[in-house]
Amino acid sequence: MKKDIQISYEYFKNSSELSDIENTLLARAKAARENAYAPYSQFLVGCSVLLENGEIYSGNNQENAAFPSGLCAERTTLFWVAANFPDVKIKKIFVVGGPKEFHESNPPIPPCGACRQSLIEYETKQSEDIDLYFSSMNDEVVKVHAVKDLLPFYFDSTFL
Ligand code: THU
Repeated sequence: MKKDIQISYEYFKNSSELSDIENTLLARAKAARENAYAPYSQFLVGCSVLLENGEIYSGNNQENAAFPSGLCAERTTLFWVAANFPDVKIKKIFVVGGPKEFHESNPPIPPCGACRQSLIEYETKQSEDIDLYFSSMNDEVVKVHAVKDLLPFYFDSTFL
């Protein structure tokens, strides 16, 4: 029996198509990207997180001379938020990335597989979907309405 999985997403050509809060999240993620520590890849990523109480936190990728010891922007930000506000729900996550010397043609940067898995953990824990946005440096944005849309057949605690 053949089955299909479909996901829907929104595409924004530039920031004029975003709402005020979405533009704020984009700006915060871009500002965080400026502080990324990425001397090895020269690929800078910033992330911002909107909580249900309206507060916004941000972070960036942190690399290491021992390569696997670094961490992506999404997990750096998410783990800090979860460590400090374990009971506050996450409403939206915005990721923006690109090479240090970015080019007009650089596309939106989607979260890596490991970050998707980490994000799923918190989406499942809070029993409420998280809007996930990922963007290029030129403000071209993709939005999915839940992290799980980006990770079909995800593994979570229900299997343990
Ligand atoms: N990176 C992120 O921070 N997030 C992503 O979604 C993709 C990749 C970082 C990891 C590494 O520091 C650099 O970008 C190049 O892979």
